[in-house]
Amino acid sequence: MIKIAISGKGGVGKTTVSGTLARILARNGYDVLAIDADPSMNLASALGIKNPPRPLTEFKELIDERAGGHSGMFKLNPKVDDIAEKFGITGPDNVKLLVLGTVERGGSGCMCPASSFLKALLRHVILKMNSVVILDMEAGIEHLGRGTTRGIDIMLIVVEPGARSIETAGRIVELARQIDIRRFGAIINKAAGDVKEVTDKLQGYGIDVAGVIPYDTALIRADMDSIAPIDKGGTAVEAMKEILNKLPVRKE
Ligand SMILES: Nc1ncnc2c1ncn2[C@@H]1O[C@H](COP(=O)(O)OP(=O)(O)O)[C@@H](O)[C@H]1O
Ligand SMILES: [Mg+2]
Repeated sequence: MIKIAISGKGGVGKTTVSGTLARILARNGYDVLAIDADPSMNLASALGIKNPPRPLTEFKELIDERAGGHSGMFKLNPKVDDIAEKFGITGPDNVKLLVLGTVERGGSGCMCPASSFLKALLRHVILKMNSVVILDMEAGIEHLGRGTTRGIDIMLIVVEPGARSIETAGRIVELARQIDIRRFGAIINKAAGDVKEVTDKLQGYGIDVAGVIPYDTALIRADMDSIAPIDKGGTAVEAMKEILNKLPVRKE
């Protein structure tokens, strides 16, 4: 079983990659749980799910009941083992999707029931779930904290050819090391031509390239037509299949 976190600057293709890898893994026979942990919440469309589940943070009563407490106290280890089952919805190829939603947070993450609840949920799904977990994340991962990310096998950082997304990748790796994520790989997405310069820059940050996905207008078309990339097919989807074949992750 493998747990993969997908991160990177906004717009580089994290959601496209997350949704497509989830579907490919499911077709390869894995039981897949995809988690939308990005506040922009659009993983459903990349999975081919038309009616996404409501984000968990909207279930205020549930959160209060599980993680809330009296006189400003809240539980650090709320019960979450039934959440994926109850609140996840199943889409094409039997991929299960959970949408986390957003928590207002200050500099170092808010100390509130909602945050406690989401962290406990991530800890649970990453450490305990007997399925492949794909996490579609945002670039800022510092709020996650060590306990949440310990079971992640690999963090794939999506970059597009361009200095800004490479710099973001460097920053992500720095943060990820602080929260005990030890294995990284970059995915160069929207590649058009030679990627040597991008590869060299990434290596300057100590990041190896796990794969390259070409720029593919089929993905633009799929997006415009609200079709999941994998249902459209094309060179980018083929490249993602290949990336999964080569991914250095442990299997149990
Ligand atoms: N390889 C690619 N070729 C062409 N367009 C792509 C490719 N990957 C992603 N896109 C497009 O880029 C846009 C942003 O992708 P998205 O996955 O939403 O990024 P993120 O989740 O990182 O913000 C989408 O319109 C998507 O269709
Ligand atoms: Mg996204």
